[in-house]
Amino acid sequence: MANEEGAAVSVDDIAYDALLEWIADEVAPYVGDGRVADYIPALAQVPPDRFGMALATVDGHLYGVGDFRERFSLQSISKVFTLALVMAGDAGALRGRVGVEPSGNAFNSLIQLEYERGIPRNPFINAGALVVTDILQSQTGDAAGTVLDFLRTESDDHTITIDGAVAASEAEHGDLNLALAHFMAAYGNIENPVDLTAEHYFRHCSIAMSCAETAMAALFLARHGVRTGGTRLLPVLGAKRVNALMMTCGAYDAAGDFAFRVGLPGKSGVGGGILAVVPGRAALCVWSPALDPHGNSVAGVEALDRFSAATGWSVF
Ligand code: DON
Repeated sequence: MANEEGAAVSVDDIAYDALLEWIADEVAPYVGDGRVADYIPALAQVPPDRFGMALATVDGHLYGVGDFRERFSLQSISKVFTLALVMAGDAGALRGRVGVEPSGNAFNSLIQLEYERGIPRNPFINAGALVVTDILQSQTGDAAGTVLDFLRTESDDHTITIDGAVAASEAEHGDLNLALAHFMAAYGNIENPVDLTAEHYFRHCSIAMSCAETAMAALFLARHGVRTGGTRLLPVLGAKRVNALMMTCGAYDAAGDFAFRVGLPGKSGVGGGILAVVPGRAALCVWSPALDPHGNSVAGVEALDRFSAATGWSVF
């Protein structure tokens, strides 16, 4: 909440629950603005009028508002966890196979891949995430299962599952992703059978989780790499790198706008979720299914904008 001069009020002075309630009221007019993703038909059935937001703090407290316990399709938010798990296994495996620059193009664009000879710009566009999934598949033999196990453990809920109907819908309408994967395979940048890598990619994108579970599962990024159980997933530098990629590439061709407005590492998904990290303090997840033309939740961005303005929490 801002005071009358517009200065941020310290969150230490206000209750997180009250802050989240205030944000939910503020963004209510935006809920339902935009369009629910329909290029994956199973996602088109999600009601656009939902809104939930959860805040998990590094000291283990959880706060939420609205539909923060309702599960939604993680979609591209899952790419953050896939990347972190590959880096935990062997960060060197990414070298030469995926870049770290914002693409400035749509998340499913083919165009740069030809110019750049099958090396995707970054791990969060679909092409990059397919490569990361391919590496995790080689490392573990079960990329989607590895992501699912990690998410269940970190959020302490073993009922989290892959939504089979969404995964099947993605596969059935997956021509563009398959084209990206085949194209990269032609350059030697997919090492498993394309159909296998694509299946694991579709499956980890189809994991259904709530805002509360997603925020808890991402706390290792706020704790500089340390998992909820106290063990380390990533070195401090590794966590910094994942957060940096979220900041520069997490909202695709709207990453600049997201950094300008929110100023936090964030990762959106076409299920309408956005994960944001406040290094050293908290992880946040907001969900509202109606999207802007870039694939980012309209009410979600509004909510995170209000949150960072009110708290003054930002990496800048
Ligand atoms: O491959 C796809 O198109 C989806 N499984 C994920 C795309 C996505 O979430 C983009 N995010 N805004």
